Amino acid sequence: MRKAILFLLSSTLLTLGCKDFKAREEVTNKTSSGKEALEVKAEHPGKGLMERECLMCHNPKASEAQMIAPPMAMIKLHYLDSSTTKEQFTEALVHWLNDPEQESKIPNAVERFGNMPYIPYPEKVIEQIAAYMYDYEMDRPIWFANYLEHKQQGAENSLRNYKYTTTDNAEKRYANKGLAHALATKTQLGNSLIKAIKEVGAKGAVEFCKVKAIPLTDSISIMQNAVIQRVTDKPRNPDNEASAKELAHISFFREQMASDGSVEPIVELHDNEVNFYYPIITNTLCLQCHGTPNEHIEPETLAAIRNLYPADRAIGYGTNEIRGIWSINFETDSQ
Ligand code: HEC
Ligand code: HEC
Repeated sequence: MRKAILFLLSSTLLTLGCKDFKAREEVTNKTSSGKEALEVKAEHPGKGLMERECLMCHNPKASEAQMIAPPMAMIKLHYLDSSTTKEQFTEALVHWLNDPEQESKIPNAVERFGNMPYIPYPEKVIEQIAAYMYDYEMDRPIWFANYLEHKQQGAENSLRNYKYTTTDNAEKRYANKGLAHALATKTQLGNSLIKAIKEVGAKGAVEFCKVKAIPLTDSISIMQNAVIQRVTDKPRNPDNEASAKELAHISFFREQMASDGSVEPIVELHDNEVNFYYPIITNTLCLQCHGTPNEHIEPETLAAIRNLYPADRAIGYGTNEIRGIWSINFETDSQ
């Protein structure tokens, strides 16, 4: 199953030039020293990277039962002690991400969450994320206090007996699998799109999308042994129009995002198959073909879009908006 995403290159390419995570002013505790509070004006580059690359699985906002991977605060707890240097921490993270099948440092993690799929992150990306994780406090889920208390009560051993609150474990496993499918496809499409824009400009890349977007998604479906689709409420290609059920999921994700900025995948378990849904969110790159005409979309690109898609509805987006969803169907694991 892990091999399925080996061909994946770098999901970060999709976010090149992305300014959707605005620099926010915030006060953060500097945890490496554990003492002084540090005021930060600009955002650490590792923050946005971690949010985009890791938190879809390591989501600190998920309840203990809903979590599909340990929150970053828990990872820090097991990877860092007072003597760990930043270099050592970075090295440990690189080491882990290069081979997530190795022995886990977190008691019960594999039993509770299953394995982390291998995703070939560029080392530079991991370094930035490691630097951010090392220097800053990670968001702690509400239930985390419980876990900490357990750890403080005694030796590491007590965590072996820590009882996670869980719902159906299968659901989590399938959420992980669905996310890995979505990530693999996003990376392939993103890399091809960036390459096309570089080679033939946005106007030419419209043609590329017309010819390639669906066939590429289909061929990835075959490689991944899943039915992978991108659907939306405002389609450019009418073949990508969401069904009534998918429309309801899109509204649900929009509400979720508006209320606390977070999104969790929807997993529907049937007897032999799984339906998985997860939002597709815009960044700066998308606006040259999905933003506002003349402001983001060049007149010649717009002309190409109108020519190829006379019924186009996929314009007027800003960054960090739900452009559509991944609708992915795959078989349940046998046995
Ligand atoms: C597709 C889901 C997914 C994504 C994306 C993901 N992880 Fe994980 N990760 C998991 C799961 C599941 C586990 C639990 C398995 C384990 O700990 O052995 C895990 C565990 C870990 C661990 C704990 C290792 C240990 O010793 O147990 C580290 C460290 C980690 N992930 C780092 C990252 C970083 C950094 C990123 C982003 C660059 C990331 N992960 C992205 C699913 C994911
Ligand atoms: C170079 C122009 C271009 C860029 C840049 C672009 N798209 Fe598109 N997009 C298109 C075209 C053309 C289609 C229709 C493809 C087809 O015919 O299947 C499309 C279709 C889609 C669809 C399928 C639903 C539909 O409306 O048909 C989604 C989802 C989507 N784009 C999301 C994005 C996201 C997210 C980004 C940024 C990461 C992005 N696009 C960047 C041109 C572009």
